[in-house]
This record gives sequence, structure tokens and C-alpha cells, in this order.
Amino acid sequence: MAGPAAAWWSDAVVYQIYPRSFADSDSDGIGDLPGIVERLDYLAQLGVDVLWLSPVYPSPHDDNGYDISDYQDIDPLFGTLADFDRLLEAVHGRGMKLVMDLVVNHTSDEHAWFTASRDGGPTGPRRDWYIWRPPREGMQPGTPGAEPNNWESWFSGPAWTFDEASGEYYLHTFSRKQPDLNWDNPEVRRAVHAMMLWWLQRGVDGFRMDVINLISKDPALPDGIVPEGSRYGFGHPYYVCGPRIHEYIAEMHREVFARHPRRLLTVGEMPGVTVEEAKLFTDPARRELDMVFQFEHVGLDQGPGGKFDARPLRLTDLKASLGRWQTGLAETGWNSLYWNNHDQARVVSRFGDDSPAHRDRSAKLLATVLHLHRGTPYVYQGEELGMANAPFASIDDFRDIESLNHHREQSALGTAGETILDGLRRRSRDNARTPMQWDAGEHAGFTTGTPWIAVNPDHTTVNAKAQLADPDSVFHYYRRLIELRHTEPALTHGDFHMLHPEHEQLYAFTRHDPATGTELLVLANFGGTTLTVDLPDGWDHSDTLIANLPATSPLTSPHTLRPWEARVHRRTR
Ligand code: GLC
Repeated sequence: MAGPAAAWWSDAVVYQIYPRSFADSDSDGIGDLPGIVERLDYLAQLGVDVLWLSPVYPSPHDDNGYDISDYQDIDPLFGTLADFDRLLEAVHGRGMKLVMDLVVNHTSDEHAWFTASRDGGPTGPRRDWYIWRPPREGMQPGTPGAEPNNWESWFSGPAWTFDEASGEYYLHTFSRKQPDLNWDNPEVRRAVHAMMLWWLQRGVDGFRMDVINLISKDPALPDGIVPEGSRYGFGHPYYVCGPRIHEYIAEMHREVFARHPRRLLTVGEMPGVTVEEAKLFTDPARRELDMVFQFEHVGLDQGPGGKFDARPLRLTDLKASLGRWQTGLAETGWNSLYWNNHDQARVVSRFGDDSPAHRDRSAKLLATVLHLHRGTPYVYQGEELGMANAPFASIDDFRDIESLNHHREQSALGTAGETILDGLRRRSRDNARTPMQWDAGEHAGFTTGTPWIAVNPDHTTVNAKAQLADPDSVFHYYRRLIELRHTEPALTHGDFHMLHPEHEQLYAFTRHDPATGTELLVLANFGGTTLTVDLPDGWDHSDTLIANLPATSPLTSPHTLRPWEARVHRRTR
């Protein structure tokens, strides 16, 4: 079959490593590349096909490495280029692939490109590599409101920082130490392409592309609408999938991906992307990207107050959203499937139930639902153990710039400390960044030094060592799901059909592969109470493919599902 269904990554599972928190080999409290090498057998045992490494490049670490000061080296915190080559060889030696994080919407303000752009002044040769603008007319430069437009940074505060020396502002959609590159400048694009080719020649197998749909800005940089209660304007309409985005991605495909003989994986991180846009990005005929990360489903438990205003998830919303992406990218394009990454709170705490009675079961249920969808599943480190959110006691326990800025901003506005902390506990990115829980020992076997962020105290019971030894663990359940992705073609190719979309507690769907006649039925009880469901016709006495609880009786309609029970059945038609 031509098209995306035939691509090698269509039956692959990707595992994301956040190196800083994965495994520390030199006791400085920060994970590193040799630490990853030591744990590759664990990942091979899990059975994943591809590793995606969050950034390991030199960086001042204002945003934990997503602020890169040199694209063609390794930060000494993580090791050396020689360590990287050893890691790559060891990954390939185990039949896995390695995908790099590509962060090119912005650099660090300590990158030589930016220092040249800043220090050369308004007429300097590198000035136009970044987005510089004079202050708003009639305003005192450097004072609030004098910014060239009213956009807010994703990390709180204005999206512009004033440079005294030149009297101009530079744009940063993220922190002030992450100036946005000017993609409208062809020299910038050529420099990025050359850097990407350099990594491909070194042997890497593709890229996860950080906020790549933000690279094309409306050149007029218009003011955004100011939402009620905010000091800043909403700039997204002017740079989320901006005017030249498809041109730039297609050019990158031509100049980089198409020039490379090896089979790559490219995935674009795209906040705010719609199904229609995603279809354009991932239509193989258009030669842009293999798949994108969309954010709709991880925003469904957010209230009107923004990211830290957590609300309970309504299952009907989740099904409507994921279902729409399934059908939207059915004929053309491809989905990536994820619950977790280094920016999201832990899914078992968020959409599952992390109390001791239901934790493992709900972690397995979430895994079942996600891995049975059509698309490429991503597992974020520790998700395969059912790692949960951390019990942060005070603001001193947080490390993330987004969380700390939010806390500072809200405190200044007079929001009660406990209210701010409550939001952070539920939604802070630091929940994903506590160290990987390898064993029950001190610091969870992550480091023999002092970890840069505290380990979750629950590592005494939730850890890899214990789970490897227990055939019924969350780890072994993930391992079986990953194996199914490799052995059951209906997971890759089957059509997706949602059942009972209006049911508040049941997530049920079928996958049907016309080529083999195999049909799968997925039943998941998203809650702590039992549930009786009517089965569609023809499923009585069908075989169990995988389930998070042993069956007590053959499948017959009506069927009772126990709390957080998930079952997958198979038949041929
Ligand atoms: C992406 C990354 C996030 C980072 C941001 C700015 O969303 O995943 O961690 O802070 O981009 O680079």
C-alpha cells in the first residue's frame, strides 16, 4: 500500500527520554548520556523502536535545554560528542533508532547568532536573524506598554525584551532568554538546514521539532485581542500556523529530509494545530512531516483561567476530541498518540486514579485506550511504571521556569498562595520531571549525588526493579501492548469506530482491518464503579487479546466491567 500506512514508523512505538531526569552516571545529580547507555537494555526489554531525546545541546538551561546556545555540540552536563556517538551506536546496535529534539523557533540569547545580532546593532549583518522592532511610538522605551506589540510570552509577562544599547526590542514567544529566530530570512533557514544535515550525517534517525508551527509570524506583528482580566494580547492568531509555515516545512523537507537516504521519523510539536492543518502537514503527497503532536486532548481539563486552572475531565469531551482526530486523519495523514511528555502532568494522576487501590489498573487502562488507537504511540519515561504527580510541599520544590514565573505573577496579583500551589501541583511540568524511579533505594537509583529535583517519595513502591520482577506490573503490561503493535496489523491499519460517544464512563471503540478481516473491540471503564454495557452484535465468546484484569467469565452481552477494567477482544469477519 502506498502512503503513510506503509511507512516504517506506522507500527513503531517511540519512547521519550528527558535526559536530565533519566539516569545520572557521574553523581552530579543530573542525568547524562552515559547514564542512558547503562539503561538501554531496559528500553530494549520494553520493546520500543525509537528513542526521542529531549535537548542535550549546550545551554544556559533557563528552560532546561530548550534554550540552545550551540546546535552542534553536547552540553558538558550531559557528556561529550564522543559519548553521544557511543550512545547512538549502542542504540543502533539494539535495533532501535534515535530522534533528536530540534529547537529552532528560538535559540538561547547566549547563542553566537543572537549575540552577533544584538551586539552588531540595528544595521549589523546578523540583525535580521532575529525579530527586532523599535518601541511603540510615543512611549518611553523600556517602560510597560512601550513594547512593539501587546503579545504575552508563553512563560508570563511581555513577549518582548528591551535592549538598551540599540534602543530596540527583540521578540521571544517563550522566556526572555529564548529569542525567536526570523524564519523569513533565507540565511536563517539555510543555517538551520545545514545543522540538521550535520546531525543526520552523524547518524541520527530524525527529529522531534519543538513548537515548529510557530516559526512563521505575520510580518505586521499586529496587536492581539486582550482577554478579560489580562494585561496582554493574544498573539496566537498571528503566529500559530502563520502565513509561510507550509512553505518553510516543505522547503526543509526538500533541503534536508529528501537529501538523506536513510528512513527518518519527523514529528512536529504544534500547539493550537487543527485537524485540517494537521492533515496538510502530514499528507505524504505534500512532503512535509510524518506526524504532528496536537494538544487538544491535554487541554480538556483546563478551566477558563488557563493552564493552571485545573478542572475534572469529562470523558465525553475526551472521546469527542480523540475521535475527531482519528477520523480526521483516517484517509490522509497520520496521528501521533500520547498522554504524557516533559510538559504534561502525569496522566495516571490526571485522567486516571493514582490512589493505591486503582493506580496500576487505571495506568493500564489509559495505556490500553491510547495504544489501541490508530497512530504512532509515544511513551514518556516512567509512564510505563505508572509514575504519578509529585507531592510538592512548597514553591521551593519547583524548578520549572513556567511554574516559577506563574507563581511570581500570581503572587504579585494577590492570588492566595495555596490556590497557586494547588494549580501547580496539578499541572506543573515538574510533575513530569521528577527523576526516573529505578529502584526503592535512596534517590530511586537515579543518582548517588543530590538530584536536581527531588525524587517522588513513592519510589519505594513504584519503581522499575520491582516491576521487572512482577509479571503483572504496569511495565509488563506496556511491554505486551508494544509487542501487540508489532504483531497485530489491525492496530496499525484498522479503521477506527467510536462506540457510545455519549456515555460518561465507558470508552469503547472498534478497529477493523479489512485486509485481514480482523476486528478488535476495546472496552474501558473510566471510573471507580462497576459498569454494565451492552455489546455490539457478534462479540459473545470472542477471544481476549489483552486485558488489565483476568476474565471471570466469557464475554457475553450485557457485560459487567469492574472499576477501571479495560479489555480488548478479537474476532474475524
Ligand atoms: C516546547 C517544549 C517545552 C519548551 C517550549 C519552548 O513546548 O516542549 O518544554 O519549554 O517548547 O522551547
